[in-house]
Amino acid sequence: MILSTSSKHTPLLSIVDLKIHFTLVNKEAVHGISFGIFPGEIVALIGESGSGKSVTALSVTRLLPPKETRVLGEINFQGKNLLTISLKELTAIRGRKIAYIFQEPGASLNPSLTMGYQMSEIIRHLPKKERLQQIQSRLRDVGIMDTERCYRSYPHELSGGMQQRVMIAMAILQEPDLLIADEPTTALDVTLQKQILDLLKKLQEQRKFAILMITHNLLLVSHFADRTLVMFRGNIVESGETRTLLQNQKHPYTKALFQCIPRFRHKHQVLNPIDYAELGVA
Ligand SMILES: Nc1ncnc2c1ncn2[C@@H]1O[C@H](COP(=O)(O)OP(=O)(O)OP(=O)(O)O)[C@@H](O)[C@H]1O
Ligand SMILES: [Mg+2]
Repeated sequence: MILSTSSKHTPLLSIVDLKIHFTLVNKEAVHGISFGIFPGEIVALIGESGSGKSVTALSVTRLLPPKETRVLGEINFQGKNLLTISLKELTAIRGRKIAYIFQEPGASLNPSLTMGYQMSEIIRHLPKKERLQQIQSRLRDVGIMDTERCYRSYPHELSGGMQQRVMIAMAILQEPDLLIADEPTTALDVTLQKQILDLLKKLQEQRKFAILMITHNLLLVSHFADRTLVMFRGNIVESGETRTLLQNQKHPYTKALFQCIPRFRHKHQVLNPIDYAELGVA
């Protein structure tokens, strides 16, 4: 069957049998995972620490150190395998069609350059006046009304929540088709977490980009993601519509994960720790 690339039924991103091997320590962190993300879809990737979520996210645009990693499989995006295209082609996709936001906004910002300069660099191909307009407009989109002040600020002059807002403004500057968010709210306090997520959801509804959301926060998944993938020790052990998964988990690891959230537990049930013996792992 031939489907047009703009079809809603053609995945925007299709990962096939992805393996990530760290050559220096001779360790395979991801053991051949496959999944797709459709245009405008929000997909959550959850799983315990060290299960391979971040390295999967980074591998999408080849952000892992090439000398230390061997990445096998296919990462198909808009008709191209990102693992095999030239660096020049990849650069045209990185940050433009696929944007990232990370847990620590401070770490992604250059401390010695103003926010305005850093935003401006992303769209330096545009004339100055247009650049300023775009930046102001995107800052307002993320709820920053004093755009002048933000433009002139250095990262340390902004709070963590404000920095994350600016990171989101930067991510959407180039109208990406896919936003990969790796624990974007973990470093923030609870009230700010909700604000940032509401903001992401609002922007996604307005602009229709797809989101791959990596998170530990299962409650967040239930409100946010259309579909959820569960990673466990380098494999995707369960996936499905978030609503279905919340009602019925098949894999023991997913069951254990969901039992840890009070509102998905029976009222009088005690909190069950993850039983690794049951999962057949040490
Ligand atoms: N540069 C590296 N060299 C060797 N091993 C690495 C490297 N980066 C990651 N790993 C290993 O790959 C595995 C997956 O790591 P990853 O950072 O993707 O986990 P994660 O699921 O994102 O965990 P967390 O929830 O703590 O962020 C881990 O065992 C980690 O130790
Ligand atoms: Mg991680």
